[in-house]
Amino acid sequence: MDNRPIGIFDSGVGGLTVVKEVMKQLPNESIVYFGDTARVPYGNKSKATVTKFSAQIIKFLRTQHIKAIIIACNTVNSNCIEQLREMFGNLIIEGVVEAGVKMAVDTTKNGRIGVIGTEATIASKRYTQLINEVNPSFKVYDKACPLFVPLVEDGWIDEEVTRLVITKYLEPLTTNDIDTLILGCTHYPMLQQTIQSIVGDTIELINPANEAAYAMGELLKQRNLQAQGTATYEFYVSDHAQRMKQMAQMFLGHPIDEVTRVDIELYSEK
Ligand code: DGL
Repeated sequence: MDNRPIGIFDSGVGGLTVVKEVMKQLPNESIVYFGDTARVPYGNKSKATVTKFSAQIIKFLRTQHIKAIIIACNTVNSNCIEQLREMFGNLIIEGVVEAGVKMAVDTTKNGRIGVIGTEATIASKRYTQLINEVNPSFKVYDKACPLFVPLVEDGWIDEEVTRLVITKYLEPLTTNDIDTLILGCTHYPMLQQTIQSIVGDTIELINPANEAAYAMGELLKQRNLQAQGTATYEFYVSDHAQRMKQMAQMFLGHPIDEVTRVDIELYSEK
């Protein structure tokens, strides 16, 4: 038994989709969440910058006595999870990309998988690489969808403009006969129903957060690190707290009372 919290971090508020899954699947586990709201988006930044920011965040989370980390941000997962694991050798670091790949390869029947994400996630080709490591004959069709994040953050989940943007972005994937589509960005599960209603039931949508929460639960069980009792939730951001509070209502479906600002750049050298 281990009641220390799980650290979950993201470039901003989107990682709350992962928090939601962990709350649902692992109700006894406490969570410390960090959203880098001062420096979001990561999706158009370089690998070096994303790695540096992520290392600072992990250093901060370690001061919160976490027992493991889930990297909610697909951009971080795709670009530098291996480097972060090397840097923080003894820390359990789980990612949503590996989880999403597992779900997708288990789901597809025709071996044609679509992946959508930020520009940096798609440019990294990480999803393609991991899918082809499992099965080299699987075909992966990927597409960056940079307009999805601002649409979601404005709450435009099922507006006409959103439906047009979805249709346009997904056209090259649907015409390639994919039967599985990975929602490879923290924000995209918010669009799941809208996307599903556009692409139809023949395409299975994969929310990597489902498997990431499950995989974390299994890992904690194997290592005897499960928590017992009542979970606590703490939220930290690098910019003002107000935006996180507003977004929590939308992403989690309920408000959060307290959000604390952290000067994340102080964690460069520690
Ligand atoms: N959290 C990012 C991701 O999942 C999306 C937002 C951003 O670009 O930072 O890739």
